[in-house]
Amino acid sequence: MGNCFAASSKVDATLPSTSGASRSISKTNTSTITSTVTNNSSSSKSGIDSHLPTPRSESEILSSSHLKAFSFNELRNATRNFRPDSLLGEGGFGYVFKGWINEHTLSATKPGSGTTIAVKKLKPEGFQGHKEWLTELNYLGQLHHPNLVKLIGYCLEGDSRLLVYEFMPKGSLENHLFRRGPTQLSWAIRIKVAIDAARGLCFLHDADNQVIFRDLKAANILLDAEFNAKLSDFGLAKAGPTGDRTHVSTQVMGTHGYAAPEYVATGRLTSKSDVYSFGVVLLELLTGRRAVDDSKVVVEQHLVDWALPYLSDKRKLFRIMDTKLEGQYPQKAAFAAATLAFKCLNAEFKSRPQMSEVVASLEELQSSKTAFKNSPSHAQTGYDSIRKSPINRHRSPRNLTPSASPLRSHGQSPIRRG
Ligand SMILES: Nc1ncnc2c1ncn2[C@@H]1O[C@H](COP(=O)(O)OP(=O)(O)OP(=O)(O)O)[C@@H](O)[C@H]1O
Ligand SMILES: [Mg+2]
Repeated sequence: MGNCFAASSKVDATLPSTSGASRSISKTNTSTITSTVTNNSSSSKSGIDSHLPTPRSESEILSSSHLKAFSFNELRNATRNFRPDSLLGEGGFGYVFKGWINEHTLSATKPGSGTTIAVKKLKPEGFQGHKEWLTELNYLGQLHHPNLVKLIGYCLEGDSRLLVYEFMPKGSLENHLFRRGPTQLSWAIRIKVAIDAARGLCFLHDADNQVIFRDLKAANILLDAEFNAKLSDFGLAKAGPTGDRTHVSTQVMGTHGYAAPEYVATGRLTSKSDVYSFGVVLLELLTGRRAVDDSKVVVEQHLVDWALPYLSDKRKLFRIMDTKLEGQYPQKAAFAAATLAFKCLNAEFKSRPQMSEVVASLEELQSSKTAFKNSPSHAQTGYDSIRKSPINRHRSPRNLTPSASPLRSHGQSPIRRG
């Protein structure tokens, strides 16, 4: 079984939930889903928010975390007045700037000296934005693991909300996977990134107070100089079900193309929702294609639907592999990774593996003696099981008619169209 508790990982004593979900906004090509689902679960086992541990108040979150409270001026100086040439990227949440601070005093230093930081500056989104900001502080202030991005501090001043992170020099996995031109992402790096992300999720799921990440996607996997991958963006994270509850009933939040179908349809959130999203990211790593890509012909727009029939067929798998890999991948390992993605994407959420099993499978695949031998195989396996797979018997949530769908559907990200 994979071990997701690295030596340096740590969960601070108690990790209560923050109540209520807020709005996730995406500037990626994948549209963001936000929908209120009526909590119609009649089961006493349903994990209704109010049954979760009492949320901490804002002042408790801000005062108990070991985070530096920056003044706005400090962060303005650290980022050279948020200069456009310090801009690292833009998300639905706001802009991210590069900055520099003294590693001991944490005060602003000259550009290029001290420690490099990433400063996320919230757009004035009002209450919802503030809630996500606070949720991120609550979780990242207490969870520490090599595969979670490190939060250094925050700024709360008037209407200004900022978050200060360790700088991840290679940016997001999304930027690497989908940009034009040759890729730096070799097969070995892709598997390493998958293992790192899986370990991060496994750590959250196996914590004493389980945390469900809820927004796993390539944009939320950041890479350091050595391509070590870390999960970022805990604004939608949610405490997992407690006691004998099987799920948490909540607003449907996340990103189209990545969110698990049963969660989108019912609002019932479990750790297996993250496992599904991980399966989508694994598919993106294999194929180099986005979860949702409106620029493709209709049958190829939704990665899961398009790729699924190829995943269990050794002879056909090469057809969907990322051409940027130029065939430089071990076929056995690729097939093992495809099989794992297939399991993660099972429409029956209970049948999906735990993240600890996913970590173990990926580690085995990475260390296998045959991992880097290109041994063609012509055996066809499992095609029948794909056709019989429940995932094909269920209508994809995005196909639900507006009246049946709990989603407020966005054709695209509000940022890009709005
Ligand atoms: N700690 C960091 N170090 C380096 N670059 C970062 C860091 N955090 C974010 N970025 C860059 O800023 C970009 C925007 O990040 P952000 O999390 O705001 O949005 P996103 O994840 O792309 O989209 P979404 O709005 O759905 O969260 C990222 O794609 C990445 O390139
Ligand atoms: Mg992000």
